[in-house]
Amino acid sequence: MSAQPREQWASRLGFVLAAVGSAVGLGNMWRFSYLTAENGGAAFLLLYLAMTALVGLPVLLAEFAVGRGAGKSPVAALEHFGGRAWRPLGMLFVASGLLILAYYSVIAGWTVRYALEAILWGFSADAAAHFGHVTTGFLPVVWHLFFMALTIGVVSGGIKGGIERASLVLMPLLFVIVAGLAVYAATLPGASAGYAYYLQVDWDEILSPHVLADAAGQAFFSLSLGMGAMLTYASYLSGRDNLPNQSVWVAGTDFAVAFVAGLVVFPLIFVLGLQEEVGGSTVGALFITLPSVFAAMGGAGTVVGILFFVALVVGALTSAISLLEVAVASAMDTVGWQRRSAALVLGATITVLGVPAALSLDVLGLMDQIAGNVFLLAGGLGLSLFVGWRMDDPVAEAQAGAEGVRWFFLWRGLLRFVVPIVVAAILFGVTIPDTIAAVRAFGG
Ligand code: PHE
Repeated sequence: MSAQPREQWASRLGFVLAAVGSAVGLGNMWRFSYLTAENGGAAFLLLYLAMTALVGLPVLLAEFAVGRGAGKSPVAALEHFGGRAWRPLGMLFVASGLLILAYYSVIAGWTVRYALEAILWGFSADAAAHFGHVTTGFLPVVWHLFFMALTIGVVSGGIKGGIERASLVLMPLLFVIVAGLAVYAATLPGASAGYAYYLQVDWDEILSPHVLADAAGQAFFSLSLGMGAMLTYASYLSGRDNLPNQSVWVAGTDFAVAFVAGLVVFPLIFVLGLQEEVGGSTVGALFITLPSVFAAMGGAGTVVGILFFVALVVGALTSAISLLEVAVASAMDTVGWQRRSAALVLGATITVLGVPAALSLDVLGLMDQIAGNVFLLAGGLGLSLFVGWRMDDPVAEAQAGAEGVRWFFLWRGLLRFVVPIVVAAILFGVTIPDTIAAVRAFGG
């Protein structure tokens, strides 16, 4: 065990904004938009909302309760409440964090490049060619490296001086930009067609198990659940916070940002009638469609596009630091490393892991499928079983500081029955078979 006293958040707002910072990221703008486009618009939005409320929110509160109760990072926290048998689940969390950040940083690297290039030269008229240029060859590795260096820098600064400070500045900035863009998008000629696609439910779509699985995976990914990021952030709390309240704030804000991002993206896409292109989507669709809209819109498009990409970079950075923090905190708690060396060594490892994703879009997509979907769902399943069935008194842990709240029986019931059954059905019924098929397709 380390002799370093445990760090703490300086303020309640700091903790909440850091948790929101972890949640809000590329997942809300890039992943959410392309999944929504791919899965028929409003039907997906509705399922995603349901998953966030019924599955995401209870797991979020569970992570908060375990993290604060143990005051330790995942591996040690699970051992604290459940004994050594639960350590492997903590290790799965750390592994997920490493793998997700490895490809997440590659996409973030493209984003930084898009933002800087747009500031210097505007958007290229041939967006598809430009995307090909940004994602092939050796340069994506360099931008990935650059983004990882930023992430390592913030995490090295620690909880108060690094993560909290960055979140307090960056998150309000992101909210203002995204809200401003949504207001602007409402004035565009294609806006109503975009809204119709985004908000009018097609009830036939909603029944597909694949859409359901994507919605569940996205709820976990977007709320940073199933890999201990929220658990780790809560481990730096001191005790009197109202965790149920804060879970609702974090989940609500995360959903709101994704929703508003959709109010930006869909009108923009429909201005040029590009919905067909995005419909048969891959990870790259948004990086082609949106810039081509920005380029076609002239000066205003350039300004809007720059703001859009700046918001993406901001969201990506505050999420990436939480991904790295899980591994760093684990190394500090379990093997007694210093924060700085842990951030550097683990950050360098992640950078190397991300190189294959930087060199190949197919590898990147596969890593997202495996770590971003399978691992997070598996981690969330494990955590709900742990808190629902193994922990002696999870309600006491969640309730400290929230004595007036009455819906803990509901929370426990969701964690014991609804979450494990829904997540297991999706994981074993859809996500794992889909992933095996994707791996086979990749190999052959
Ligand atoms: N929630 C982040 C996003 O939406 C990604 C993330 C996933 C961060 C898992 C931490 C853990 O972009």
